[in-house]
Amino acid sequence: MSIVDHPRGPRIGPGVAVGITEGVIRTQVHTFYGRVREDPVLGPIFNGAVDDWDEHLAKLCDFWSSVLLVTGRFKGSPMAAHARTPGIETEHFPRWLEIWRDTARSVCRPEAADLFIAKAEMIGESLKLGLAAGRGEIPPLTR
Ligand code: HEM
Repeated sequence: MSIVDHPRGPRIGPGVAVGITEGVIRTQVHTFYGRVREDPVLGPIFNGAVDDWDEHLAKLCDFWSSVLLVTGRFKGSPMAAHARTPGIETEHFPRWLEIWRDTARSVCRPEAADLFIAKAEMIGESLKLGLAAGRGEIPPLTR
C-alpha cells in the first residue's frame, strides 16, 4: 500500500495551516543567514565552516521544508554537522535563536512566525543538549 492510499492519508505538514510555502521558507532562511553572516559573534563561525553558501542555503531550505511541509527533502545530520564544527558553544544558541525570532517576526505573518520560532526552539534545545552530552558536559544518569 502506498503512503497516499493509507487510510489515514498522507501527512500534512504543520506549516500548511499557517500559510508557510517554499517561498516563505526561502525568504526566512535567506534573510536569517544574511543577518547571521554579519553578526560579530556568529558570523565568523559560519563563515569559517561554510565554503559554498548557495549549497548551504539550499540545504537549510530543504531542512525547513522537511520540518514544516513534511516533504522529506532534507538528507543530512544536524547533530553530526554541529559536533564537527569548531567554535560552536552552547552559549551561542540564545543568540542564534534571537536572530531567528527577529527575522521571523520581520518577514512572516504572525502565525507563521510563531511556528518557525517554536520549531527552532525545540530543535535548538535538542541540538544544544546533544552537543553538551557529546562533550561530556552532562553527567550520566547512572554510573
Ligand atoms: C538553534 C537552532 C539551530 C538549528 C535549527 C540549526 C540547524 C542546522 C542545520 C539543519 C544544519 C545543516 C546540517 C547538515 O549539514 O546536515 C546546520 C548546520 C550548521 N549550523 Fe546550525 N542550527 C542551529 C544552531 C546553530 C548554532 C547556535 C550555530 C553556531 C553558533 C550553528 C552553526 C552551524 C554551522 C556552522 C553549520 C554548518 C556545518 C557544516 O556544514 O559543516 N547552528 N544547522
